[in-house]
Parts: sequence; C-alpha cells; structure tokens
Amino acid sequence: MQAGDIMVKDVPAVGPEATMPEVAQAMLAGKTSHVLITDKDGRLLGLMSGYDLRRAVAEGRLDSTAGELMTPRDKLYTAEPETPLAAVAETLTRLKLTQMPVVQEEKPVGYLNLDTILNYTSGELSKFRQASLILETMREGLLVVDREFRIQEVNPAALQFFDLMAEEILGRDYRLFFGYNQPIGEVLEKGEALINVEVEDEKGRVFLTNTVPVSYDSALIGVIQTFTDISQRKAIQRQLLKTTEELDKAFALTLPNSRVEYKLKNTPEYRDIFLPDEGLIEITEIINDGGYVHVVNALKVTADLNDKGIMALPGIDKDILVQALIFHDVGKSQPLLKIGQIVDPDKVFEDSKKHAERSAEIVRHSYGRPDDVVTLIRYHHHKQDELPDDFPRYLLPMWRLVKIIDGLSAAITRRQAKIGVSVNGTRLIIVESNAHPTYNRTMEIDLYTGRKFVYTEEQTESV
Ligand SMILES: [Fe+2]
Ligand SMILES: [Fe+2]
Repeated sequence: MQAGDIMVKDVPAVGPEATMPEVAQAMLAGKTSHVLITDKDGRLLGLMSGYDLRRAVAEGRLDSTAGELMTPRDKLYTAEPETPLAAVAETLTRLKLTQMPVVQEEKPVGYLNLDTILNYTSGELSKFRQASLILETMREGLLVVDREFRIQEVNPAALQFFDLMAEEILGRDYRLFFGYNQPIGEVLEKGEALINVEVEDEKGRVFLTNTVPVSYDSALIGVIQTFTDISQRKAIQRQLLKTTEELDKAFALTLPNSRVEYKLKNTPEYRDIFLPDEGLIEITEIINDGGYVHVVNALKVTADLNDKGIMALPGIDKDILVQALIFHDVGKSQPLLKIGQIVDPDKVFEDSKKHAERSAEIVRHSYGRPDDVVTLIRYHHHKQDELPDDFPRYLLPMWRLVKIIDGLSAAITRRQAKIGVSVNGTRLIIVESNAHPTYNRTMEIDLYTGRKFVYTEEQTESV
C-alpha cells in the first residue's frame, strides 16, 4: 500500500500573498484544518495549519500574508505517491506529526493525515503493522518485502544485525541491502515458503532464514522473512568437523599400510531393522566405509578407556589391544546389499568366526604381529565356553575387553548409540543410550572374572 492509494486529493491551496481571511475561507471550503501554499506554477511553498491561523489572530497579525506565516517547504516532511504507507505512518508517529502533503515533482497532489492512515484497517498495511507490533520485541530479525521488492517493514532486531536505520531502507529495494538474500526472490517468484534456509552474507555471516509468502484476497502481495544469526553455531560445527578429520588422519597414521586402509574403507556395514514375525532384517542404510568407521570408533572408545585408567590393570596391554582392534575385522567379507532389501541375516552374512579366523591368519602371516594379537583376533567372536582348552588364561581380561569394545563400536557405528564408560577397579561400567530406548542399558562387567550385570529399562538385573 502506497501514499498515493489513500491520499486525499482535493487539497485547498492558496498563493503566498493570500490574507488570513482568505486562508480561513479556504479551510472552511475544503473542510480541512490545513491549507497548502503554492506558487503560480503550482509548486509547494509551505503549509498553514489551523493552529498557525489561530496564533496569527491571537497575535494581531491579521495583515500578514500566508507566505509570511506558513511553515516553509524546507521544514515540511512530504511523501511521494509511491512512498509506502508504512514509511509514512512510521515518520508521522516518530515525529508526532498529524499530516503530510504528498508531492510529485514538487507539486502537491494529495494529502495524508494520521487518522486516515490509522483508520485504514483493510488491506495488507494493517496486517503488516499488526505483525510488526507483535514481532518488535522478538530476537529474530523480521523483514517484510512487497511484490515490487520494496521493504515494507523491518523490526529492530533486523536493523541491529545489519547496522541499518529504518528510514534508510523502508520503501527501498531489498536487494540494495540484502542482495545475497536468495530465498526472498524465490518465494516472491514461486509463492511457496522456504523454511530453514541458510544464507551467507557478504561478510561471511550465516543466517538461518524462514521466508513465507503473504497473500491478500488470494493474491501474493509480498513475503515475510524471519532470520537469526547462526554464524557462531556454524563456526563450532566447522571446528568439530575439522577435529574429526584430524582425528581420522591421525588414525590413518596408525594403520600399517594403505592396503589395510583401502580394505577397511571398502567394507560396508549395514543399518537395518529387525522384522520379528519373519525373523528377517530390512536394510535401511549402507555405510560404505563401515569397516573403517567401526575401527575408528573402536579406537575412540579405547582412548576414552585409556583416559579412565583401564590400561593400568595388570593383564591389559595397550599396544596389543590397539593392534588387535585395528586388524580384528581385516578379513571380513560382506555381502552387497541394497537399501530396502529384506534378507535372512543367517544366510547372507558369513559366520563371524570365519572372518575372525581369516583376520588372524592375515595378521600372523602378512604383518608378523605378536601371538597375543593373533589369538585375540582369532577368538573375538567366540563365547567363553567355546574357547579351546589351551587358550591362555592371562589373555582372558584383554579378550573380554576386545569383545566389549567391538560391541560398543558396533552400537555406535550401526545404531548411532552414545556410550559413557567408567572404570572401577577391575570393573567396567558402560552406559549405552540409543535412538531406540529398548536398546538402552547399563552394563557392568568384571574383566577378571567375566561376571556381568546388565540393567535395562524393563529388566533390573540379569547375571
Ligand atoms: Fe568381527
Ligand atoms: Fe568388529
């Protein structure tokens, strides 16, 4: 909505030589409390209000002319027919004025007064004004742009983000100030909302924007955009990603050679859901470098346990443990499955003991690792009662630890579980929290005796 749309067009005007009785007559005839003073070509020279007239009478200046008593042009606030009504209302309210002439090429073409504007309750202006009143206090920036790309409304938070003044941007093309802001243009063009779009400004700041179309009488009249500065959040995110990359690189250095890295990075792991009625699983996601991620996660858990003091236990050797974890699945062969495929896990996946055996042989033969490493790998999928009689007893605590870390890493890798560990003497306490609460559990295991307690939501204890 623009000034020209609702301005009063019959504005009484007199010349600068008009006397006070002539000014009063013009006001009476036009039923207004203002008279414009124009030159002979119709250009605006000034304005006389009813107040100016009363003062002239009170001061006995009845012989003065309109030109002498008027408020001159250079002290008048005026609008143009294209000035947005919101900008006029803002200026009138801020300067405590009640009226504003509308001029075109310096000739008055109309007249606006505050009452008319405030009483103008139909149309988008009232909507915009209401919205802005409500949203003035919010911390998110708010921008209202009409179909001609002009800024119709802006809230204090938005001005603060960009260090702008309302006067300098209202009614102007938003692209001059927010040129990078693609969603506005797209929503104006397509009329569909764009939610949670990240936009970067020329200073490199990142804003999260929500842009929705505004319709009136089923026609698109503009868009409302709210936005918030997420630069700090983004910076932390980037830092975290960098840290993860650095960790990965550091891990790659611990790998014996590029062939092991290649093998791990090309062994997929699958996320699935169990279909209890059929005893089958449905593949929901493929982690292409799952073998690699699994080993990295296992080493992260190990680093955490190292922090908590587990390596100080007699019978636990950090180097042996790390070697066993790096190589434990190197001989694993995975089937190639697709998302959505429903399979019988017992049929498609190779028996785990087979890849354990294969990994152990590869490590022994090609990498010449210590016997303890080979043994831990060979039996990492056995249960305790399946271990051979000659299994070295001193390796049992570390064998239990390898199995625990392997299981935790699998939970992190395949179920996106969160793990908390603490060490209490020879006991390890593990809290596992999953996206699906039925998997949530607290496990306590004594590495020396193998005694295990599991606490789940339904079950308080099982030994
Ligand atoms: Fe394995
Ligand atoms: Fe594994």
